[in-house]
Amino acid sequence: MLGGKLNRTNVRLLRKAIRHPTRAVLRLVLRSRLSRISAEEDRQRLIAYLSDRFGADGPALADEYLRYPFRQWFEERRASLEQFRGPYRHGTTGRFGCEALYLLVRAARPQVVVDTGVLYGGSSSHILAALEQNGAGTLHSIELGRDRREPPHDYFVPADLRQRWTLTIGDSRRELPALLDRLGTIDMFHHDSLHTWDHMTWEFETAYPHLRPDGLLASDDIHGAATLRELLRENAFPAFCRRHGVQYASFFNLGVGSAAGRQSQGHLVDRSLVAG
Ligand SMILES: C[S@@+](CC[C@H](N)C(=O)[O-])C[C@H]1O[C@@H](n2cnc3c(N)ncnc32)[C@H](O)[C@@H]1O
Repeated sequence: MLGGKLNRTNVRLLRKAIRHPTRAVLRLVLRSRLSRISAEEDRQRLIAYLSDRFGADGPALADEYLRYPFRQWFEERRASLEQFRGPYRHGTTGRFGCEALYLLVRAARPQVVVDTGVLYGGSSSHILAALEQNGAGTLHSIELGRDRREPPHDYFVPADLRQRWTLTIGDSRRELPALLDRLGTIDMFHHDSLHTWDHMTWEFETAYPHLRPDGLLASDDIHGAATLRELLRENAFPAFCRRHGVQYASFFNLGVGSAAGRQSQGHLVDRSLVAG
């Protein structure tokens, strides 16, 4: 009976939990927090948000995503990762987060997007797929790097979506300021690299001044904590938004803040905006 449950993935997870018990506890807490949120209700809220906030036809975009051949390709690719012969890391954005990013980019139609934390390209490919459907826009990604035996960073990025993409390998602490200085103003920033409070906060503080007024600040893992001590603290994304008077909404584990009220570059925030 146990044999049926102990497939290759579960054995890997079990070994990991024994090697890193704290991480296993943090994962369990995150799972428990997310289990209290209905992904389907949040999906419907997101679809309504896209219509209200961007004047987009949210239901039509959701339908488009369901029919998009890229989605099917991606799901097959996700399943094939389990058969990968070399080492690979877990951490690819889940179904909800991938769809949400696609819908957000389709509705907001950003021209210049920056994201951190690519891993094998799960969330980046969804941003790229949406830019492709928009017919405009570029994505600039930063990723720390990988073991050479792992899947490549573009494992989840089909060849026909790569022309809108630049990937910088390096630590975002070093690469993000340089990239943002080169780009000047950006329309959207998405964080999915190191989810410690300090690093998330640093990335938001660094990217926010470059967002155009009304640009989007997005973050994965807004219910997670990187250490046991951080479990007792508010996640860095809502904390940043509150501090800067950024209006934000959360959909499952994704946070979306709007720089509405920003007047120009710099931390010029309309503090009368109600956070949350
Ligand atoms: C949660 S995974 C990203 C998942 C990815 N967005 C997806 O949907 O498949 C986090 C990634 O961030 C990268 N990372 C961690 N710290 C980083 C840093 N300081 N700068 C850039 N990338 C970093 C890791 O190497 C890892 O690939």
